[in-house]
Amino acid sequence: MKTILMVVGSFREKSLNRQLAREIEARIGDRATVRYLEYRGLPFMNQDLEHADGSENPAVRRVRAEVASADGLWIVSPEYNGSYPGHVKNLIDWLSRPVVPMDYATPLPIHGMPVTISAAGGGRKGAGMAEKLTELLKFVRFAEPTRPYCLMGYGAEALKTNVLTVNPEAEALITAQIDAFLKAI
Ligand SMILES: Cc1cc2nc3c(=O)[nH]c(=O)nc-3n(C[C@H](O)[C@H](O)[C@H](O)COP(=O)(O)O)c2cc1C
Repeated sequence: MKTILMVVGSFREKSLNRQLAREIEARIGDRATVRYLEYRGLPFMNQDLEHADGSENPAVRRVRAEVASADGLWIVSPEYNGSYPGHVKNLIDWLSRPVVPMDYATPLPIHGMPVTISAAGGGRKGAGMAEKLTELLKFVRFAEPTRPYCLMGYGAEALKTNVLTVNPEAEALITAQIDAFLKAI
């Protein structure tokens, strides 16, 4: 059974994006194992902490190992000021770095790794986040991100109730995205 690692780009307790990730997980069902990456404990990027020479931070080691053991990454993220949240960039920065000092020859687990993006967003449905995150993922050499992306508007009401409702348009996109990603992993 293949493993999909969900990366939720919001740490908010009632996150609409976490709810979207759960909706995706429910629709994947028994076709893959779904795990969630816990990365709140990652320090801000600091090159003093990055190598497996004794200086590697334990949270960095754990996050790297979890990503390495997955078959694909599914990032479900809000849009912050037209882009991805800073902690998502910080995570990708950590994953993009060599484990052994100056070793740029050994491939990293993320090189060629299948990846896809979803969002529950406002009026632009997270389109700015998805565009910039796609650029970043390609830069650090993930596989070409799998499309279609389910980018859904949560609607004004959801911001008050904190309850995400998956409309038929989003439902169809989730189904298509799951089918495409299961083929990619
Ligand atoms: C710093 C910050 C910047 C934001 N910028 C945008 C934005 O550019 N576009 C947008 O649609 N929503 C923006 N929002 C609103 C978020 O989409 C909204 O708070 C959403 O519910 C966050 O996702 P979550 O429910 O998963 O935490 C912003 C929120 C924050 C905290």
